[in-house]
Amino acid sequence: MILVTGGTGLVGSHLLYKLLQTNTSVRAIYRRAHKLELVKKVFSYYTADAEALYQKIEWIEADITDVPSLVVAFKNVDHVYHCAAFVSFEPDKYHQLRKINIEGTANVVNLCVSHRIKKLAYVSSIATIGHHQNPQELIVEDTNWNQEDDNSVYAITKYGAEIEVWRGTQEGVDAVIINPGIIIGPGFWNSGGSSSLIKKIYKGMPYYTHGVTGYVDVTDVVDALVLLMQSAIKNERFIVVSENLSFKKFQELTTSALGIKPASKEATPFILAIGWRLDWVSQMLTGKRRRLSKQMTKSAKSITKFDASKLINTLDFEFKPMATSIQETCQLFLEDLKKDS
Ligand SMILES: NC(=O)c1ccc[n+]([C@@H]2O[C@H](COP(=O)([O-])OP(=O)(O)OC[C@H]3O[C@@H](n4cnc5c(N)ncnc54)[C@H](OP(=O)(O)O)[C@@H]3O)[C@@H](O)[C@H]2O)c1
Repeated sequence: MILVTGGTGLVGSHLLYKLLQTNTSVRAIYRRAHKLELVKKVFSYYTADAEALYQKIEWIEADITDVPSLVVAFKNVDHVYHCAAFVSFEPDKYHQLRKINIEGTANVVNLCVSHRIKKLAYVSSIATIGHHQNPQELIVEDTNWNQEDDNSVYAITKYGAEIEVWRGTQEGVDAVIINPGIIIGPGFWNSGGSSSLIKKIYKGMPYYTHGVTGYVDVTDVVDALVLLMQSAIKNERFIVVSENLSFKKFQELTTSALGIKPASKEATPFILAIGWRLDWVSQMLTGKRRRLSKQMTKSAKSITKFDASKLINTLDFEFKPMATSIQETCQLFLEDLKKDS
């Protein structure tokens, strides 16, 4: 039996579709029943018979921070894909991030140990890998994380989660970790996660930045996960990035695929510095969620380039070009928009 956590999320739902192509015993956990509809939606991008495929999943209501519910989900499980996480860059969400990402992962790892599962595949992030002083130097899996850096609350907790997975390997669990860049794929336009970037750009994002980071298509993320799970490779981590793009380039590819005008104004460091302070004041006055934190503005302008050669060479892996990924994702976004109007 395969167990997937985070099955109602972007990565988890596309992973479930992939797993169901070859596996009959797939179990997934969910927290909120209404999110299950999004899984069917994702399946419908791949097949006309989404409902029948969806019915093959054994769903169990469980929260990774609630051990008793998780214990039920682990019955007869031998392989675990841990995709559940709380993705937020808001500093005031730090405790919730710690609870879900670090404690939740510790719970998953503990149950992997006690149930002697064969292998754990964990979805981490490029946020947990260190940076070079020289921005042109490529970041690899061994680039040292510096805890003295001004790391985001998300990065700190994903790093803590990785430590839990490494601890599990010391306690006898075989594990692989993937470190994807920003994941592009359809289905979660309103989630606030990476899928919703397409919608935000569609609604109008007047500013661009020259900051560079890694991007990857969701199908490449799930392919890498499954290939690593099925391989003899254990206790290693892999950067999963198709291309390093500036945010300006990403926006240009997206606006072109959506048939709208590209952003015309640069968000200079000065504008960004004003922006996050105004956002902070607005949150204090209105109580609304932060949309721009200091760390978000930092990553918006920083240049970080990742090297995925380890994955490419180890698995003979071929990434989907980002222009294709963005084109396909935007096409599905526009089709959904038409259906919903
Ligand atoms: N998207 C990206 O650009 C990106 C990039 C690099 C790495 N990652 C990593 O990839 C993984 C998947 O991300 P994603 O984009 O698929 O995120 P997502 O769409 O936000 O999905 C997160 C999933 O985790 C579940 N979850 C959250 N808290 C939980 C809890 N306490 N107990 C059980 N389930 C819980 C969510 O359930 P609900 O549906 O109930 O909320 C959802 O199914 C995460 O580990 C993330 O850190 C994402």
